[in-house]
Amino acid sequence: MRKNIVAGNWKMNKNLKEAKELVKGIRKGLKNNNFENKRVIVAPSFINLNSTVKRTKKSNIEVAAQNMHEAKSGAYTGEVAADMLTDVGVNVVILGHSERRMYFNETNELLAKKVNTALANNLEVIFCFGELLEDRKTEKHFEVVENQLSEGLFHLLKEDFSKVILAYEPVWAIGTGETASPEQAQEMHAFIREVLAKKYDEKTANSISILYGGSVKPANAKEIFSKEDVDGGLIGGASLKSEDFLAIIEAI
Ligand code: PGA
Repeated sequence: MRKNIVAGNWKMNKNLKEAKELVKGIRKGLKNNNFENKRVIVAPSFINLNSTVKRTKKSNIEVAAQNMHEAKSGAYTGEVAADMLTDVGVNVVILGHSERRMYFNETNELLAKKVNTALANNLEVIFCFGELLEDRKTEKHFEVVENQLSEGLFHLLKEDFSKVILAYEPVWAIGTGETASPEQAQEMHAFIREVLAKKYDEKTANSISILYGGSVKPANAKEIFSKEDVDGGLIGGASLKSEDFLAIIEAI
């Protein structure tokens, strides 16, 4: 059975001290939580990964990186390699976030390479994708999403694909306060599962967790998560306060 996942993407927020406080708050709130069918992941900036891994030891909180370079090592100033992540105890990486696509020109082609490198290093991938407002307005959203999946992921064999978590994040809903309606999210998630069944098979399609991301907050999480094909969320702004993040985890 696929797992429900709540992942907090801290983006370029939280210094060392603030990260420590946030983890402390989340740990405290999750003390008596049942993790049987649930995963909680936090994604701090690179510089806070090591300390966050240490601070989440002996808890059920997992730590993800927000990005990673596709090469094994080399002259890539400012970049971080996959084995540097695993070396400090990180086992999940977010790839393809719309901010990486938009501000750092990450293409589906590049992301396919990053996905390969991550999986080859035993990093689980949270693969983000989603349409722009213009795509939705012109009713191209299904086509755009299918294309992002196909170019970024569908070169993978079934066994490797099952190590990927999908995060559908309509770009118009990220950080805007505007959320896709639960119906819009469900419609897209069901479509994604159909596409996966067509490419791989029904069993694979049903085993992949598909998260929704884009202005999820305590007030709307329950309704979005109640939809059949929504298996949790990738949370930005609301993951920066432990009370909000805990309330969202509670909603799953
Ligand atoms: P948001 O961000 O929750 O602040 O909209 C979501 C994301 O970018 O993953």
